[in-house]
Amino acid sequence: MSFESSGRERATAAAALPQRKVLHVGCGPRGLHRLHPVFHDLTRWREIRLDLDPSVEPDIVCSTADMRGHIANGTVDALWSSHNIEHLYDHDVSRALSEFARVLRPDGFALIRCPDLESVVTAILQDGLETIAYHSPAGPITPLDMLYGHRASVARGNDFMAHKTGFTDLRLGRLLLEAGFAHVNTKRATGFDLWAIAFMPEANPDETLDALACAGLSFES
Ligand SMILES: C[S@@+](CC[C@H](N)C(=O)[O-])C[C@H]1O[C@@H](n2cnc3c(N)ncnc32)[C@H](O)[C@@H]1O
Repeated sequence: MSFESSGRERATAAAALPQRKVLHVGCGPRGLHRLHPVFHDLTRWREIRLDLDPSVEPDIVCSTADMRGHIANGTVDALWSSHNIEHLYDHDVSRALSEFARVLRPDGFALIRCPDLESVVTAILQDGLETIAYHSPAGPITPLDMLYGHRASVARGNDFMAHKTGFTDLRLGRLLLEAGFAHVNTKRATGFDLWAIAFMPEANPDETLDALACAGLSFES
């Protein structure tokens, strides 16, 4: 037996749900398309944009490696990091991931996307360093761009776009556990993307994993 509430009841129920905060680190320029679809219901999620580059007009200007002066402990429900952690110096990566765990509520989660170095290396071995691998909104992308950052942006003087480190699924999973997350899933996807979902100790992974699968990102192998 199934029950369907009326539109009015659904609207009342949605209004009763507390709005949750998603901290978007390394957000880049404003745009809903930069938020993962799982956060697109803006009646449920309030985006807080954070970036080291003031020109992208974030809510908070600081490095993900140290957010202490800006975000209190345990105050965000989710964290979204898309193509950001590879922009950190390697010695700052563990600090940043610990900062992710510090700012999240005990039942929160971090969703992370970055280049999958294993796929990049495979592309280099198959087609070379400078063959176009795909076209992004910023222009053509080669394995060299994926290793060291989008060269055209860096050439224009945007040093924030340089890549300074890299990840495999094994490395990212281990670093997230070391940073204090209780449960981590990683996924090597098409398009040279490496994904990780990292849960705080009191999180309900099933609920979030189901929501991600509905949004097209399944962590089941
Ligand atoms: C490739 S862009 C990604 C933008 C957006 N997340 C997306 O996926 O479209 C990388 C972003 O990370 C920012 N960034 C670089 N180093 C950072 C740091 N240490 N802390 C915070 N943001 C940083 C850059 O300024 C840039 O906006």
